[in-house]
Amino acid sequence: MAIPLSIQWLNGQLIILDQQKLPHETEYIALNTLEDVYDAIVTLKVRGAPAIGITAAYGLAIAAQNHEAETAEAFLHFVKKDALYLASSRPTAVNLEWALNRLQESIESVRTVAAAKAQILEEAKRIQKEDEEACRAIGGYALQLLEGKSKVMTICNAGSIATAKYGTALAPFHLGKELGREFEVFACETRPVFQGARLTVWELQQSGVDVTLITDSMAAHTIGAKGIEAIIVGADRIAANGDTANKIGTLNLAILAKAYNIPFYVSAPVSTFDLLIADGKEIPIEERPATEITHIAGQPLAPNHTKVFNPAFDVTPAQYITAIITEKGIIKPDYEQNITGLLGAVSGGGAQS
Ligand code: MRU
Repeated sequence: MAIPLSIQWLNGQLIILDQQKLPHETEYIALNTLEDVYDAIVTLKVRGAPAIGITAAYGLAIAAQNHEAETAEAFLHFVKKDALYLASSRPTAVNLEWALNRLQESIESVRTVAAAKAQILEEAKRIQKEDEEACRAIGGYALQLLEGKSKVMTICNAGSIATAKYGTALAPFHLGKELGREFEVFACETRPVFQGARLTVWELQQSGVDVTLITDSMAAHTIGAKGIEAIIVGADRIAANGDTANKIGTLNLAILAKAYNIPFYVSAPVSTFDLLIADGKEIPIEERPATEITHIAGQPLAPNHTKVFNPAFDVTPAQYITAIITEKGIIKPDYEQNITGLLGAVSGGGAQS
């Protein structure tokens, strides 16, 4: 039993777990170019906010190694162009922009091209390492909040394979396993592309956590029938007032948690906060291809030419969130005040500029 990993820097190469092939094939692929990385993000071979940020960081570093420039300024110009390209791959997860900005800032005052090339790769590795540490810390705080509770519902995959390791929403289950604390996890399948059924169920089975699959439409009934004690989800972007974008269907669960009077927790590293936006109305929501809804595993389901609306994310208003769990601690309402209080005290944390 082992916690699966999705991103590795091995012998000078970026190797990712192809999440589109899961759960029936465990295939690792090398991403060798900027275009490989862009394609892997767009086609969901790698997905989940922190994992997207880490992969894009390595993508920028890989492309940077091949740029020939006379001066450090000219080199930075190439890097900025590549960063804009990668940033256009997916719009909602702010970790993407955050990681790309961090890499660019890390070489702004570097004097030589050779030093900048080395620095940018080191910064990508640091982002990955820090994310693993952040997720482990999130798991510890989440275990405190889940004290005395064992039946927990989640949606999508905010797990180890969506981060450097451990995950955000799934971190307490992996960490709990390491510490001998057992949970019964109920995973929503997460239509339209089934990150819950394909990824969360697989990932938790890999580390020996008890997991039960339900369809998204069974959530309300299951909370009552199985005595669910808490809901925990990840995040793609959290606004300054606590409004949280996450996988489509998260808002349904937040409303259900309120109706059933159970806690609704959001787990995310500080790199998922976007303090430049006041509230959730400003979060860009990705719309994805109609075929994700009209087809299942390549097989047509709906009539040809069916009109489709396919938003990949929704925004949960802060009022539905019991607490936001970060690596720096647990944030409770008043979010407006407490988010800036916590992130303001963190140097370099969060997407603040
Ligand atoms: O479309 P996806 O699979 O990238 O969406 C992922 C989610 O919504 C996750 O819950 C979120 O990114 C947090 S991952 C730790």
